[in-house]
Amino acid sequence: MPDSRIITSNQQQLHHNLEPVVRRHLNTRFQRPYPDYSLEVFAQAKQRLSQHQGEIILDSFCGVGESTVNLARQYPNALVIGIDKSVARLNKHDDHYRQSGIDNYLLLRADVDDFWRLAVEDGWHLARHCLFYPNPWPKSCHFKRRIHGSPLFATLLALGGEVEVRSNWPIYLQEFAAALAIAGHSATLEEFTPKPSITPFERKYHESGQPLWQCVSQLDKFLS
Ligand SMILES: C[S@@+](CC[C@H](N)C(=O)[O-])C[C@H]1O[C@@H](n2cnc3c(N)ncnc32)[C@H](O)[C@@H]1O
Repeated sequence: MPDSRIITSNQQQLHHNLEPVVRRHLNTRFQRPYPDYSLEVFAQAKQRLSQHQGEIILDSFCGVGESTVNLARQYPNALVIGIDKSVARLNKHDDHYRQSGIDNYLLLRADVDDFWRLAVEDGWHLARHCLFYPNPWPKSCHFKRRIHGSPLFATLLALGGEVEVRSNWPIYLQEFAAALAIAGHSATLEEFTPKPSITPFERKYHESGQPLWQCVSQLDKFLS
């Protein structure tokens, strides 16, 4: 029986349309109007930020927030903001993942499509941006739902800082690195072994023997 945790895709190499799609998105602005709930959740983030002097780390697609609290422990002077659109996942945080004595983080139910744009419009500059195991959208026809195939890619770049994407599907990260290069940024892409796993998806993939990959780029630096 096939292992359902292993990604199967009709795409075995970089998407054939990657370059034109990325170039088009780098030259256009994503302008979907903001729903009220997105404005309200962003106001909550700003309220918390108004009491914070240090760096901001964003943990996008944080799921249950296990990585968020781990990042908060690792960076005690930063405010770590975990965002995910699934209330069911976020609701598991308090019972299973909260760590006593660590409170320099905030978990928000938010859609990255709105939150990232609001943060850029508000002038945020991130120290780090973690995107651990975003949904891979492995069907070739779903390329535009991947971060680098979406109109939001330019917004992600505008947030700045060190961006790190992790995945168990290397093609996703090869595409992400290729999209960064089109935008003028270098990246390192390598296989890694989590020590220890810091998200449930990471743990699940690692324990099932799958190789894991990470792509890191300093968005504040450009290729010369
Ligand atoms: C594969 S899970 C990974 C969760 C977590 N990072 C982990 O490694 O355990 C992907 C997560 O992305 C969230 N997600 C997908 N699209 C989103 C969006 N547009 N805005 C916010 N969260 C989103 C899903 O709710 C889900 O929790």
